[in-house]
Amino acid sequence: MKETIDALRREIAAALSDAKNGEDLKNFFAKYLGKAGSITALMKELGKYPKEERPAVGKLVNEFRDAVMTDFKAKEEEVARAELAAKYASEQTDITMPAKRRTRGGLHPTTLVREELCNAFTGMGFTVYEGREIEDDYHNFTALNTPKDHPARDKQDTFYIGEDIVLRTHTSPGQIHCLETMKPPFKVVMPGRVFRCDDDATHTPMFHQMEGLVIDKNLSLCDLQGLLDTLAKSMFTPDTRTRFRPSYFPFTEPSVEVDVSCCECGGTGCRLCKGTGWIEILGGGVVNRRVIANCGLDPDEWSGLAFGAGLERIAMLKYGVNNIHILYDGDQDILRQFRK
Ligand code: PHE
Repeated sequence: MKETIDALRREIAAALSDAKNGEDLKNFFAKYLGKAGSITALMKELGKYPKEERPAVGKLVNEFRDAVMTDFKAKEEEVARAELAAKYASEQTDITMPAKRRTRGGLHPTTLVREELCNAFTGMGFTVYEGREIEDDYHNFTALNTPKDHPARDKQDTFYIGEDIVLRTHTSPGQIHCLETMKPPFKVVMPGRVFRCDDDATHTPMFHQMEGLVIDKNLSLCDLQGLLDTLAKSMFTPDTRTRFRPSYFPFTEPSVEVDVSCCECGGTGCRLCKGTGWIEILGGGVVNRRVIANCGLDPDEWSGLAFGAGLERIAMLKYGVNNIHILYDGDQDILRQFRK
């Protein structure tokens, strides 16, 4: 028996030192220590020995078994420690590796202008109202003192999407909605998309406007000039000047076109302002008494100021863009320049 054990001892020592992982250990245990293992088999051989030798042989086998068990336990711990260390090593993050660059989006120039205008106006106590893009004929034209046979309708080539239903041609129908629903006095600005059948270097079928409406008592054109002057200074530079030129809109009386001193040359005359020193930025006026009456208010009691500005036009002036289509081409090289 002693020789068998010695031979087995050598075999086991080699097998244990070869074991590299939990799987090897499992196999090792089954081969030597398990129910069908070689050491267990030794126990079963005890019966072959004469009775008086059995205790001594049994002791030998037991000691051997205990020794192998102890070595096995030690190896098990060693393997567990090594496996954990390998796991940690594989999960380590190399914090010195360069990070992936992510391209960030930015706001579109038209959006920047809209936000700047909204900020300037809310700072003056205006609320922001978003009207609807699909309007009925009444709100887009009739209530704005532009009846069916009015020549002013010819000025706007309109997208009709149904009998008397249009894509709004301007943000002015928002004036009517506000007059119908808000309690005067109030001050609102209404930014939004508008649509006209128009397409050339300075026109696109869809563009943005921002309407302004003030309803209060005893308003005059001077109030409008004060308001727009403040606005122009905050939109362009603090030394920007404004001037009014007489104009015509069916829904304002008197009506004006508003120019700002040229942001390129400061008013001395250049290519941008075609040598005049002035650039037109919006239309406006004192709200026509008929519009106020159309909405059920007494025009002797309430007066109004209104204006409408094209946001793309202001963006083009502000950022020196000479073709409106550049704003809609989605050219990343251009749009990237507006990222903050
Ligand atoms: N709605 C006019 C346009 O689109 C602008 C405007 C608005 C004029 C309000 C006067 C008052 O041209």
